[in-house]
Amino acid sequence: MTQDGRLREVLLRWQAGWVTVRDYRSAPDGDTVAVRIGLPDRFVETIVLSTDPELYAGLADRVAGPSRWLTAPTTDPERTAATATAAGFTVHDPEWLMSRPLAGHPAPEPPAGYDVALSGRDSVLVAEVVTDDGVADGLAAKGHLAISGDAGQDAVADRIFTLPRHRRRGLGSVVMGALTAAAAQRGARTGLLVASGEGRRLYERLGWRVETEMVVAHWTGDADPLE
Ligand SMILES: CC(C)(COP(=O)(O)OP(=O)(O)OC[C@H]1O[C@@H](n2cnc3c(N)ncnc32)[C@H](O)[C@@H]1OP(=O)(O)O)[C@@H](O)C(=O)NCCC(=O)NCCS
Repeated sequence: MTQDGRLREVLLRWQAGWVTVRDYRSAPDGDTVAVRIGLPDRFVETIVLSTDPELYAGLADRVAGPSRWLTAPTTDPERTAATATAAGFTVHDPEWLMSRPLAGHPAPEPPAGYDVALSGRDSVLVAEVVTDDGVADGLAAKGHLAISGDAGQDAVADRIFTLPRHRRRGLGSVVMGALTAAAAQRGARTGLLVASGEGRRLYERLGWRVETEMVVAHWTGDADPLE
């Protein structure tokens, strides 16, 4: 498979899990996937399945409009960002599509003072780390994961978060360990996610590797007053 063919497949698999974990609807169509998010400031997000700069430029012009987001893999982040900006988009901080085989994923126990609990419904799992002092609002870290793919082979992690005052105590690692262990137990084999800069440092520590950099942008141009 070509590099772009593999990237396309990985992006399709990631988005399938991402829309499952967030309960969005998506429609793959050629080189893009339109995700109907339906929020006032994020109505439709177009995910591009290729790093082709010409394709990106055409799409940036085509999808530009209020509440439109555009997310694309890139081999040239500066060029992609410049194209997005020229079409009226505001470019976010860089993100990275990452993957890892679930076999052998670290799954540390919570450190002293914390417990981890797993819940969820159907193919969506939720892990929460709470302080073990019985305080009702003792949530310290949380994450979500969807099991997806035709054979349930993929585990797509999403919204991994540790409250600022609980960071760098291993809780993000506990959340990721609990989610990936539960997914592996249910038969999933490959982990996929899109990481923030901070997230990337956590995931790299846990053995994940970068598939591609992603440019995420939302349109902030002048809306046509007649629309
Ligand atoms: C990313 C995040 C979840 C990490 O949570 P955490 O509980 O601090 O992670 P851990 O303590 O398990 O980190 C384990 C290791 O990952 C690496 N790591 C995690 N965060 C890091 C950071 N901000 N900078 C550098 N390394 C980092 C370190 O190697 C760390 O080990 P160390 O503390 O012994 O050096 C947390 O910073 C966060 O919620 N950020 C905001 C939301 C976000 O970006 N989430 C990720 C979305 S993809």
